[in-house]
Amino acid sequence: GKVGVLFGGRSAEHDISIMSGSGVLAALKSKGVDAHAFDPAERSIAELAAEKFDRVFIALHGRYGEDGSMQGVLEQLNIPYTGSGVMASAIAMDKIFTKRIWQTHGISTPGYAVLNAQSDLPAITQNLGLPLIMKPPHEGSTIGITKVNTAAEMQQAYTLAAQFDEVVLAEEFIEGREFTVAVLGRGEQAYALPIIEIVAPDGNYDYQNKYFTDDTQYLCPAPLDATLTTAIQQMAVEAYRALDCEGWARIDVLVRNSDQRPFLLEINTSPGMTGHSLVPMAAKATGMSYENLCVEILKTARL
Ligand code: DAL
Ligand code: MG
Repeated sequence: GKVGVLFGGRSAEHDISIMSGSGVLAALKSKGVDAHAFDPAERSIAELAAEKFDRVFIALHGRYGEDGSMQGVLEQLNIPYTGSGVMASAIAMDKIFTKRIWQTHGISTPGYAVLNAQSDLPAITQNLGLPLIMKPPHEGSTIGITKVNTAAEMQQAYTLAAQFDEVVLAEEFIEGREFTVAVLGRGEQAYALPIIEIVAPDGNYDYQNKYFTDDTQYLCPAPLDATLTTAIQQMAVEAYRALDCEGWARIDVLVRNSDQRPFLLEINTSPGMTGHSLVPMAAKATGMSYENLCVEILKTARL
């Protein structure tokens, strides 16, 4: 059937989505899939309906693509789509609601506070300690994030994050190593791919180092002992199921240096598929090519 690859879109991660979607489109075509590009930033929902796609691969990141709204449109149009459904997508797009659900499941995530313009910033600094991390809860690709080292930097970090969201997430800083875990499948069948360790220059895995420099090192499978590897993979699968995610997702994890305790940061329900991206890297470690990964994800498309 006719497959639509949705990419571009209206979020702050538009440019990243173009990179992801172009890769997915080329991969599906190379496998003989009748795949067509569709950019919802440039074309209307009526045009999407008129395309009469049999299935859609969502390679959109961020708002209006990863957050349940496009999933809702596709439900209305009766078009099967890749990845999580409306509710899981919406919750996963919000780092605060994600943490609340994980906490009810006893899944370890850094301590946090939810800030608005009335918040007492010095009190937050006291409670969470310094450094702390300030982020907009609905963004991706490190957009709007600051590591706050001193109380004097709190206001500026808040103002930056507040450009993207109504409320801002302040999070306890975990001094540790950075990992990511891809999860594929659904329900009881969900499983984790090999863990990747991310070793960024000066520990700074920011927008530039994510997509544009070659200064970040990726170690896959991550050099962790078998017990911790299994524990993190199990946590990731549990965290995925807790939100009722489907198809695929990628969970970002920190392991604290002082006690080797893992903390889950967030889950990405429409993870990057760029040349620098990590789900393809984890798939490759199991012998699955980028092209075959795209085909496998497409196969899971459903309503
Ligand atoms: N938000 C980016 C695309 C990712 O998580 O891969
Ligand atoms: Mg993210």
